[in-house]
Amino acid sequence: MSIKKAIFPVAGLGTRFLPVTKAQPKEMLPIVDKPAIQYVVEEAVQSGIEDFLFITGKDKRPLEDYFDHSGELEYHLEQQGKTELLELVRNIACMCQIYYVRQKKPLGLGHAVWCAKQHIGDEYFAVLLGDDIVDSDKPCLKQMIEVYEKTRRPVVAIRRVPREEVSSYGIIQGRPLGDGLWEVSDLVEKPHPDEAPSDLAVIGRYILPPEIFPVLEKLDPGRGGEIQLTDALRVLAQEEPIIGCEFQGIRYDVGTPKGLLVATIEMALSREDLSEELEQYLVQLVRKRDLL
Ligand code: G1P
Repeated sequence: MSIKKAIFPVAGLGTRFLPVTKAQPKEMLPIVDKPAIQYVVEEAVQSGIEDFLFITGKDKRPLEDYFDHSGELEYHLEQQGKTELLELVRNIACMCQIYYVRQKKPLGLGHAVWCAKQHIGDEYFAVLLGDDIVDSDKPCLKQMIEVYEKTRRPVVAIRRVPREEVSSYGIIQGRPLGDGLWEVSDLVEKPHPDEAPSDLAVIGRYILPPEIFPVLEKLDPGRGGEIQLTDALRVLAQEEPIIGCEFQGIRYDVGTPKGLLVATIEMALSREDLSEELEQYLVQLVRKRDLL
């Protein structure tokens, strides 16, 4: 059986984006004109996911509303004959069936994944983190599902990062298998650069077995006092090999204001309706500021 269920941990408070996240989920911040979370949901849809579970928290209602029909807006657009816009907003509501579970306490990513236990049952599933957006010809998750289908092993997306940045990621220890695949023997959550086993960082895409749930249940809090998914993977890696997959594509870290801006500029530059004017503006800006 392939991967049909995916979970999206979206309960985070988004403190890096305060004050805007005071009354607005960070997942709804726009990249050009689409909320960040939609890019990730679309990746899952294009990867063949059929069952979507959001692990939400307090104040995340706008996410539910966004992926639902908006009767008043649709009626208004219909009346005005704005058929393209009508189709655009209808398609968002029809894109997928989303289920919601509340993470009642902010106990960490591992705990958020554990909250999906009942919904997932006894099958392999995917986890997609909204802070990571990947722009690629073949969706990142699809690349990973293909690896899973060949190996029938848990798969994590990995990418080399500069040494000074390893303390922001889960870092793997592994041996190369060829074709961008690694056999992961250990993982460390956010190590100090001097203690990191490599510069290969886990990016927010995982294919996990149901066996992760009992491991998460018994786990003590780790880095930052939180239940860490990385620590559970570490336990799994001792029992069976986990595969690290160096995926193809450009990855944006939209979990920081700078990363969100970079993604916004790059995505806008790849849009026909915006690229020309934006390029002209950027050239003017570079000249004005004497940047070259
Ligand atoms: C989480 C994980 C970390 C992973 C990262 C990928 O950290 O805990 O292992 O490398 O996502 O983006 P966060 O960025 O949520 O602190």
